[in-house]
Amino acid sequence: MTSSKSDRVSPSDQDAQSCTLTVPRHVAIIMDGNGRWATRRGLPRLAGHRAGTENIRPITFKAAELGIRYLTLWAFSTENWRRPREEVEGLLQILSEVIQRETVDLHRHGAQLRHIGSLEGLAPDLQRQIREAIELTKNNDRIVLTIAFNYGGRAEIVQAIRRIIADGIPPEAVDESTIERYLQTAGMPDPDLIIRTSGELRTSNFLLWQAAYAEYYFTPTLWPDFTPEEFEAAIRDFQRRERRFGGLYGPPRPHPVTEPCASAP
Ligand code: IPE
Ligand code: IPE
Ligand code: MG
Repeated sequence: MTSSKSDRVSPSDQDAQSCTLTVPRHVAIIMDGNGRWATRRGLPRLAGHRAGTENIRPITFKAAELGIRYLTLWAFSTENWRRPREEVEGLLQILSEVIQRETVDLHRHGAQLRHIGSLEGLAPDLQRQIREAIELTKNNDRIVLTIAFNYGGRAEIVQAIRRIIADGIPPEAVDESTIERYLQTAGMPDPDLIIRTSGELRTSNFLLWQAAYAEYYFTPTLWPDFTPEEFEAAIRDFQRRERRFGGLYGPPRPHPVTEPCASAP
């Protein structure tokens, strides 16, 4: 990729010139620590999962308020089926409750709901609820809220490769953009920032392809304790970083949404 001279402006120079801060276009969150949150209170793990769902609406509204266009929340991994049956069934039940409880309000606030991951293995009724929420909100454009449920990065890549082969695309025609088109995130920008709560310092198979140049923000805060204020602090932290994408300077700002410097701490 070539870059014109005017592209090669460091973010700090750009900030000085325009006095604006870039808002990440896509933020993804690994919502971890529900079980420990509950255990520390002497509660069953499912109480932690329920408490964690109370965060979805306020964090989504805060993200929209900050001008973030895509928010992706990871709620259940392809590996989480390994948990005891009671916990897995509880998590499926909680997803159904959350859809029923939150969809209308999210819709009213202009959130477009999407799902990544496999619907296979979910009860037909739950699949229907997910499809209906997606259908109801499909024309909203304030923020795209993607719920990653029964999602795993490797499974997503395997599924993409299978579909590329099934579509008869010849090997020499496959490039990075082909793979992107076949991933479930097709059409979405890559995450600029990935937040993981609960102090674990790993990706655990999240957005493996898409996270190639994501910035990471790890916090010891357990997910049910994660507040919109800490979310905003993570965004401020991101705004102080210099992204390089393998070059010497960051590429031109990919996203026009900016905010006045004055609002930074
Ligand atoms: C995250 O919380 C939610 C899911 C993975 C479903 P955990 O259930 O992993 O909580 P911890 O990590 O055991 O505390
Ligand atoms: C990752 O958390 C999955 C979600 C948060 C949905 P896990 O708790 O399942 O990850 P590991 O097992 O600690 O790596
Ligand atoms: Mg965990």
